[in-house]
Amino acid sequence: MTQTPTWLIANWKMNGDAPRVRSWAFAVNAALGAHSAHVKVVFCPPAVYITDAMAALPPNAQLALGAQNCHAASKGAHTGELSASMLLDAGCDYVILGHSERRAAGETDDQVHAKALTAMAAGLMPVICVGESLAEYEQKRTNAVLNAQLSLLEDLPRGGYLIAYEPIWAIGSGRTPSMTEINAAHSHIKSVLGSETAVLYGGSVNAANAGEILAQSQVAGALIGGASLEIESMCAMITSASTRGK
Ligand code: 13P
Repeated sequence: MTQTPTWLIANWKMNGDAPRVRSWAFAVNAALGAHSAHVKVVFCPPAVYITDAMAALPPNAQLALGAQNCHAASKGAHTGELSASMLLDAGCDYVILGHSERRAAGETDDQVHAKALTAMAAGLMPVICVGESLAEYEQKRTNAVLNAQLSLLEDLPRGGYLIAYEPIWAIGSGRTPSMTEINAAHSHIKSVLGSETAVLYGGSVNAANAGEILAQSQVAGALIGGASLEIESMCAMITSASTRGK
């Protein structure tokens, strides 16, 4: 059994409501119980529900909380935005940065880098998303795209962040790369950022395929969207993560 925990990060995106957030947090934390030495679960609900998730958890809960974005500035005139320290105040230890859905809305590599620095300074662990489009995948440009997305991240303190490799074409599509392709992309990321970098896979991970994906030697965990919404499938993935043999 691995010494380093397997990460399962639940990204709810813009889904859910307060009752579902509370019941999910309570139930998943309870299910995590005996597995918490081997599995680290991070719940990233919409930001307005972070305090609901906190309130549903018992003292000394194993379930960690994260946000889906933060601003690069520590404070100021940024209407509608949230700072890293506000997220920390609300109970977060993690923040997802540079998700492809945000990059599609205009977020740049520079902004992701600046946000990562601010988040780390505030005490949050960034989960930085990278990955290629379908066209780039078909043109076999995955490594070139990753190189561009990773180049600014090389100066970040090693071990202070997680990387999530999320091929855009695999997100919400039911398609995943082959295990060979996942291992190759993760190896490439580690060759750029350092072999100690924890690289999670994201894109159509579910209860049926989590076991195989998490068993890959280069995969440190999973960033899960749709399949994380249901308590039952999340708990099944926790079981898969706890039994992966490496
Ligand atoms: P799905 O698991 O729904 O494909 O989403 C992946 C994702 O974007 C997680 O951040």
